Amino acid sequence: MERFELALKVIMRAGDVLRRSPMGEDQISRKTDHQDLVTCRDKEIEQMLRQEILKSFPMDRVVGEEYPEDSGGSGVAWYIDPIDGTTNFINQRKNYAVSIGCWKDELPVFGLVLDVEREELYWAKSGEGAWKNRQDIHTSSHCHVSDLLLTTPCIQHTFLDEHPLRSSMLHLAKAVRAVRSLGSVALELCQLASGEADMFVTICSAPWDHNAARVILQEAGGCICTLNGEELPLNSNTTVAAFNCPEMRRLFLQNGY
Ligand code: IPD
Ligand code: CA
Ligand code: CA
Repeated sequence: MERFELALKVIMRAGDVLRRSPMGEDQISRKTDHQDLVTCRDKEIEQMLRQEILKSFPMDRVVGEEYPEDSGGSGVAWYIDPIDGTTNFINQRKNYAVSIGCWKDELPVFGLVLDVEREELYWAKSGEGAWKNRQDIHTSSHCHVSDLLLTTPCIQHTFLDEHPLRSSMLHLAKAVRAVRSLGSVALELCQLASGEADMFVTICSAPWDHNAARVILQEAGGCICTLNGEELPLNSNTTVAAFNCPEMRRLFLQNGY
């Protein structure tokens, strides 16, 4: 089985398990504090994804949120988030995703993001466009800042916490049409890829949060970089600014929000 077919099989299996999973308070624990939660499902699903990937491709590298990296020498790296939007999974039982990205020699190969409860699979292979289930998707054509719908996955981190970019973020929020927060980096980048939002910012995102959805976004016509306009690193935590088109990126960086 090729890597893409394997990824497709395991992401659908993960979705089936998550939709059927009962979730009690005893299955939730804090990682760093009360706003940073993990459930036994996050761990189970990540174990299943790792085992399936490494069974077929033992020399691949697997980077995920809940367990230390499995490093291999094939040059292929998988970035997996078993549940992106764990708080939504716990409190809403919707608006969460399974995310699987595959890169070779630091170049994108494919990305898959499953909106579990809506049963919507966003996917892209490099150079072959972006899709939601069987429908091709494209970014929006909005090109004036005042027309933009901005999303950010954590209101507290972006707008309330003290950080060097806070005043720029507040300025941007006042300039756009509206700000939304779904609470899942992967799903918000897919909203941007499918034209439901126009721009995305975050102060801190991890490789497993965005390395699948960024493939989908770029194939849909969008672009992504750090908040300073640098190339997004593949293997470290980073700020993120993502846009519906290169022209919006140019405007954002030129105006120095
Ligand atoms: C988190 C979500 C959240 C974002 C955090 C992520 P998790 O992922 O995407 O919206 O603000 O930065 O860590 O913990 O639910 O996998
Ligand atoms: Ca995540
Ligand atoms: Ca997660």
